[in-house]
Amino acid sequence: MTDGGPKGFDLAGLLAERGAERYELHARHLNHQLPRMLRTIGFDKVYERAEGAYFWDAEGNDYLDMLAGFGVMGLGRHHPVVREALHDVLDASLADLTRFDCQPLPGLLAEKLLAHSPHLDRVFFGNSGTEAVETALKFARYATGRPRVLYCAHAFHGLTTGSLSVNGEAGFRDGFAPLLPDTEIALGDLDALERELKKGDVAGFVVEPIQGKGVHESPPGFLRAAQELLHRHKALLIADEVQTGLGRTGDFYAYQHEEGVEPDLLCVAKALSGGYVPVGATLGKDWIFQRVYSSMDRVLVHSASFGSNAQAMAAGLAVLTVMEDEEIVANARRSGDLLRERLTALTGRYELLHDVRGRGLMIGIEFGRPASLKLRSRWAVLQAARKGLFAQMVVVPLLHKHRILTQVSGDHLEVIKLIPPLIVGEKEVDRFVGAFTAVMDDAHSGGGLMWDFGRTLVKQAVANR
Ligand SMILES: Cc1ncc(COP(=O)(O)O)c(C=O)c1O
Repeated sequence: MTDGGPKGFDLAGLLAERGAERYELHARHLNHQLPRMLRTIGFDKVYERAEGAYFWDAEGNDYLDMLAGFGVMGLGRHHPVVREALHDVLDASLADLTRFDCQPLPGLLAEKLLAHSPHLDRVFFGNSGTEAVETALKFARYATGRPRVLYCAHAFHGLTTGSLSVNGEAGFRDGFAPLLPDTEIALGDLDALERELKKGDVAGFVVEPIQGKGVHESPPGFLRAAQELLHRHKALLIADEVQTGLGRTGDFYAYQHEEGVEPDLLCVAKALSGGYVPVGATLGKDWIFQRVYSSMDRVLVHSASFGSNAQAMAAGLAVLTVMEDEEIVANARRSGDLLRERLTALTGRYELLHDVRGRGLMIGIEFGRPASLKLRSRWAVLQAARKGLFAQMVVVPLLHKHRILTQVSGDHLEVIKLIPPLIVGEKEVDRFVGAFTAVMDDAHSGGGLMWDFGRTLVKQAVANR
């Protein structure tokens, strides 16, 4: 800034001057229910700084992140290699997004991504998970010439209109009809899949190998058998690995856990750019791309203005390089096994703790009806008011008392989902298990602040009816 000249844009100054208004600004100009919800559960914190698997508030308290920004922070926050890649790409002043040339970075990132799924040939880059799914839906419908896409009950594939059409929860869909022609089947139900395929109008079946909602794994052998059925009926297997991909489940892609599974289309996003730049990728077989882009006239038939931008591509290349150099997939498997083992060991100790499941660092902790009379009546009051309140009662003290951020894995579910950055190790596992044990001890004592808070949640749930 020069004396007397225009003030210009001063990010640090702006944040210093107006940062404290964050919740008011949000309430006034954005989705007003977010600050309302955060205030209700006391999550309206002011985080100032973040690094790796932690963030810090203004008082310098550290918070352990077991949510990873809904999975985008696969490498944790501000990985130095990804950060440097972004500085480098800005400093290089590339002739990006001219739209009438071919830049090297998208080709290099596609090459690197495809190396992890050698049966796939081509990539379309978009800007989010939902766009990766939209692309797969369009490509499947065009390539097969059929309109209908099958999906699983409780599935989540994004919230734009196409991906909403394959969403397995009424709460997300209600009021947005008409959506695309689709049909829901239960995860694992091969008979239903075959019944629908026999109708001859199915383009494909979109599936999360492990469902984000509730952390439900497809039964062993299901994906392989579904693939065979789909191919017999000339329909496509679409694997949505937006959440499970890039090491999350202890394999590079979760479908690779099962021998012989080779999806025709594969959706990736979230962690691909290290949490910095929105990105999505749809990988597919050559014949599908050949059909969609069948002539020069159709070159832009499916495209995105920001798709393949240099920042997203450079970040993606840096992320995949770090994943190799730091053996991130193996770490996710090792840390995930340790965390799951230690949590599973607690199931015998706590009657409210019913199940610990998942793979790698995608773990579901399910609570259920206790056996003892003392806790059963308390549980019944919560359940009568609204399902999911007990899981909320756990998430809140985890943050307030132990400074650990987690989430309830979907509306009306008594399941907490853990999806920490894939870099966590024994230290983070110890901290989480210690805190979780303390919260479970409180819950099983049947009294105290935790159940007081439960009563508040019940009152709110009843008032909201
Ligand atoms: C499996 C799955 N697919 C798609 C999406 C949508 O991704 P995005 O929020 O980037 O649109 C999500 C987001 O949570 C997801 O978990």
